[in-house]
Amino acid sequence: MGLGFDYIHGQTPLDPDEMDGLLIPTIATQGELDEFEQQNIEKAIQWSMSRSFKADTIFSEEFIKRLHSKMFGDIWSWAGNFRKTNKNMDVDWWKIPHELKILIDDAVYWYKHDIYPPDEMAIRFKHRLVSIHCFSNGNGRHSRLMADIIIEKIFKKQIFTWGGQNLTKKGEARIVYLHALKAADLGAYSPLLEFAGN
Ligand SMILES: Nc1ncnc2c1ncn2[C@@H]1O[C@H](COP(=O)(O)OP(=O)(O)OP(=O)(O)O)[C@@H](O)[C@H]1O
Ligand SMILES: [Mg+2]
Repeated sequence: MGLGFDYIHGQTPLDPDEMDGLLIPTIATQGELDEFEQQNIEKAIQWSMSRSFKADTIFSEEFIKRLHSKMFGDIWSWAGNFRKTNKNMDVDWWKIPHELKILIDDAVYWYKHDIYPPDEMAIRFKHRLVSIHCFSNGNGRHSRLMADIIIEKIFKKQIFTWGGQNLTKKGEARIVYLHALKAADLGAYSPLLEFAGN
């Protein structure tokens, strides 16, 4: 954090303010937390891979919460629940259900009327979802898995590559990813589509 070395990041003690709801009291450093979260996420990927989901299941508040809970529920008590506070640039927390409903209604319309090619639809959904920031943490990873589920389960296409590298670590791929999200904030989706690389 700030010092620019991954091994130091890995040993950074967790900020007490950010430990609220931590279900595994032995986790003390950012590196341990990253590892536990990654294991939980891998379980969630296994869960989703072994099932088929239809569009009307995926495009629902219930599924969006359920997936977050599958990804982070072993680690955080608030997994799968919408946040109840704001951080800097977030959508106000109390607007989340309404904003999410607008996104879900848009996505159902895009799907029914073939508004976008499959990869663009999945990427637009992912960007709008992460911009709402439904949860206290894990929104980026959750939105990427949602895009993978949309492209695989609804359109029967290959999941995205997301730059082919670990995006949670500092590095070139993450810089390109964050730039692409900023372009998408302005309505330009090609950089994010290219980065996601389906
Ligand atoms: N300008 C932006 N527009 C939309 N989304 C953004 C923007 N900047 C950052 N994000 C997304 O928000 C994420 C941070 O949210 P959060 O910490 O809840 O997610 P995470 O899953 O913990 O992080 P990560 O995506 O790094 O794995 C970023 O990683 C990115 O995916
Ligand atoms: Mg985070």
